[in-house]
Amino acid sequence: MLPLLTVILFTVLNGNLAEGIRELDFLKNTFVVDLSNEVIQEDVELECNVSTGQDVYWTTPNSQRQKTGKITVKEYVDVGNYTCHLPTGDIVDYKVILLNNPESRHLHCEAKNYSGHFNCAWTPRKKPEQYVIQAYRGLNTIPCDAPVISDSRVVVTCHDPETCVHGEEEKRILFHLHVITEKSYDLHEQSFALRDITKPDPPQHLLNSGRLLEWKYPKTWCNIHSFFPLIFNVKIETSKKSEGLNSWKHHKDIEGTKFHLSKKGKLQFCVQARDMFYNSSWSDWICSK
Ligand SMILES: *[C@@H]1O[C@H](CO)[C@@H](O)[C@H](O)[C@H]1NC(C)=O
Ligand SMILES: *[C@@H]1O[C@H](CO)[C@@H](O)[C@H](O)[C@H]1NC(C)=O
Ligand SMILES: *[C@@H]1O[C@H](CO)[C@@H](O)[C@H](O)[C@H]1NC(C)=O
Ligand SMILES: *[C@@H]1O[C@H](CO)[C@@H](O)[C@H](O)[C@H]1NC(C)=O
Repeated sequence: MLPLLTVILFTVLNGNLAEGIRELDFLKNTFVVDLSNEVIQEDVELECNVSTGQDVYWTTPNSQRQKTGKITVKEYVDVGNYTCHLPTGDIVDYKVILLNNPESRHLHCEAKNYSGHFNCAWTPRKKPEQYVIQAYRGLNTIPCDAPVISDSRVVVTCHDPETCVHGEEEKRILFHLHVITEKSYDLHEQSFALRDITKPDPPQHLLNSGRLLEWKYPKTWCNIHSFFPLIFNVKIETSKKSEGLNSWKHHKDIEGTKFHLSKKGKLQFCVQARDMFYNSSWSDWICSK
């Protein structure tokens, strides 16, 4: 086995940062240390924001008092909130140090239409987590609401105001989920085009008038239907009384919102919808009464 290569970096916080540490620009006084097989520890000097010459001391996250801001980050006990104090004990500054902790987490993003609304959902862990969301298309920031809990999942809804206007999506959406706990940091990235994640709502107003089955586009679909056409799958119930069970006859990839029956029938039928031009998800089925 090769011996582990130990690279010791010395970093002065607020000065120029070395490779293994970076500041989170969206959270005040918060820094992330990246350790790896090659970099097993990071030496950092925390700088207290007081006028030069002012006497200060630091308190570590486990309440140890130390004269200087020099710390060595190797493991979780070394990270957390370091506070800087005047000799009187008053806190004048702090630096939150987090360990980068890449974890796999399934992020599921979905859109009901091309209006630019989409949502992303994930399962929270047991320990308290703070989430910071950033979404972009190219250089434009996409606004997102604060995450909410729904069915024990965390869901965030975003709305790109530019989308329904033009049919083609030239640039993909980049979605960043930053997960912050008391001592760790993790970034999950997902990149997609809205057309990849589109799952329409089911069609509506299903009508069986004897020889003709009809339905309408889902209410939430972009309303310029000629620009954003859907295709449909239809399944029609066929009674098999002899076997005592019903079976279904499937008709695939129907381009309009009508289906002609060869003979009159009052049986139940179901419809689902998908983008006509792109192999994205089919909607859930919806059935006539
Ligand atoms: C230091 O403190 C001053 C005054 O409180 C503040 O304006 C400045 O942004 C702080 N600098 C840093 C690097 O935190
Ligand atoms: C760190 O400590 C400072 C000073 O007590 C406090 O203002 C800040 O909210 C703390 N930050 C975190 C993330 O614990
Ligand atoms: C698209 O779906 C969203 C819900 O995700 C809805 O708020 C919006 O009104 C829908 N757009 C159109 C054009 O129906
Ligand atoms: C469309 O997507 C489905 C499910 O993801 C896949 O099984 C199928 O091969 C795809 N068809 C084409 C033509 O890409």
